Amino acid sequence: MKQRIAIGCDHGGFNLKNKIIEHLEKKGVEVEDFGTYSQESCDYPVIAKKVAGEIAQKRFELGILVCGSGLGMCIAANKVKGVRAVTCFDATTARLSKSHNNANVLCLGERITGEYLALDIVDAWLKSEFEGGRHQKRVDMFETP
Ligand code: RB5
Repeated sequence: MKQRIAIGCDHGGFNLKNKIIEHLEKKGVEVEDFGTYSQESCDYPVIAKKVAGEIAQKRFELGILVCGSGLGMCIAANKVKGVRAVTCFDATTARLSKSHNNANVLCLGERITGEYLALDIVDAWLKSEFEGGRHQKRVDMFETP
């Protein structure tokens, strides 16, 4: 099935977001951009909640959020029920976040992670699949009080 990604950034992640879009579109991945659309300062929780909402509403299976550190976006996205957002700084944790934790939103920090590594992280994350099995019941527990 063709992958579809909801993507968003704040001003701190604007350049890297554009690189990721270009990279994914070249690979035939469909990407919908939920902003921000310039380097003008904006509030990352607004964008995080937009993209997280798309995942929660099941309009998209996966999302990518980019800010300066990758941290604020992750905290904000995880406030939305059904969202499992992770910030990754390497391909190994990106892979594990999918195979063990079924992460559905990947967060990256443009001021932390260089473009080449960031694209590698994106590829590793998109290629990995949730293993289910023993991990399923633990992931289900995220949603229980
Ligand atoms: C914006 O300056 C910066 O705080 C934001 O991009 C992000 O790093 C927040 O976690």
